[in-house]
Amino acid sequence: MRIIVTGGAGFIGSHIVDAYLSAGHDVLVLDSLWEHGGGRRVNVPERANFVHMDIRDQGVMRIFQEFKPEIVSHHAAQHSVAISSRDPKLDADVNVMGMLNVLDASVKTGVKKVIFASSGATYGTPDRLPMSESTPQRPESPYGITKMVTEHYLRFYKNERGLDFTALRYGNVYGPRQDPNGEAGVIAIFIGKFLKREGVRIDWDGDQTRDYIYVKDIAQLNVLSLDKGSGGCYAIGTNTRTSVNDIYHSLVEISGFEAPITHGPKRPGDARDAQFDASLAKKDLGWKAQTTIRVGMRETYDYFKSLVPV
Ligand SMILES: NC(=O)c1ccc[n+]([C@@H]2O[C@H](COP(=O)([O-])OP(=O)(O)OC[C@H]3O[C@@H](n4cnc5c(N)ncnc54)[C@H](O)[C@@H]3O)[C@@H](O)[C@H]2O)c1
Repeated sequence: MRIIVTGGAGFIGSHIVDAYLSAGHDVLVLDSLWEHGGGRRVNVPERANFVHMDIRDQGVMRIFQEFKPEIVSHHAAQHSVAISSRDPKLDADVNVMGMLNVLDASVKTGVKKVIFASSGATYGTPDRLPMSESTPQRPESPYGITKMVTEHYLRFYKNERGLDFTALRYGNVYGPRQDPNGEAGVIAIFIGKFLKREGVRIDWDGDQTRDYIYVKDIAQLNVLSLDKGSGGCYAIGTNTRTSVNDIYHSLVEISGFEAPITHGPKRPGDARDAQFDASLAKKDLGWKAQTTIRVGMRETYDYFKSLVPV
């Protein structure tokens, strides 16, 4: 199949590109290499076409007309909760207006389906865990709001314009190529510090938990979604919770370095716990997370270590 991956130079998108290429598909990456995102030109493999372009650009239509994709995997986004809170207009411009530009180009050029990177942030603080498709979506950040709004647009485009979709509400994704300098991704940030033999900061009491999911499992999920999950929105996670303190202790074990800890206050808006039940994704898509946090963290650590000059 011919597939456009928006945001394919980024952390998650580039693993999806790898998986699509391995499955024998033709891939074009459309990415602006946004300075505040994790997109890097080196993340895009030789075998993929690359177009350096903003998803809001009118030129998107021309790229779609020329490449004639059957599938669009939409991963380009303003992905920072903090930036979205500071600048909700920028967040909506990229995540809503940019998305609509991609959807219009998709409809006009006969794309069959859009696979969309939604987010667990669309749920806000749930009444109970684990979160699933039946959990009410009450997003608490502009980022969570735009991700939720986009799911509604996808439904509209399917019903009114015949463009199929699958929306995947990821928990906290981690793995090789995640930006260790970013605000998201405590695993990448901690590994960066451990490798530099620096201390780490643990906010709150460190017992807050997240559902961490390995990026290669997410890539496989995007392969399965190519022809399954029509019109579905799926909660995506491992259905387990890992605390910041657990991550710290695992890294001490993996690296043999006991990084000094400083403690910080609870960050505003930080949720206590997150956990996602992906039973529906298993039933509809045949997907289940395969990688334990221990194995995933070890692979991620080894990847970042291999980048350190000797
Ligand atoms: N990382 C997570 O834990 C997580 C969780 C839930 C959802 N998501 C979603 O998954 C997707 C990928 O996230 P990521 O963590 O890989 O982030 P990332 O920053 O590494 O990737 C996003 C990519 O989008 C590109 N981009 C940003 N704005 C653009 C624009 N206007 N036009 C074209 N390209 C643009 C960036 O250059 C980057 O390559 C995003 O949609 C994000 O919201 C991520």
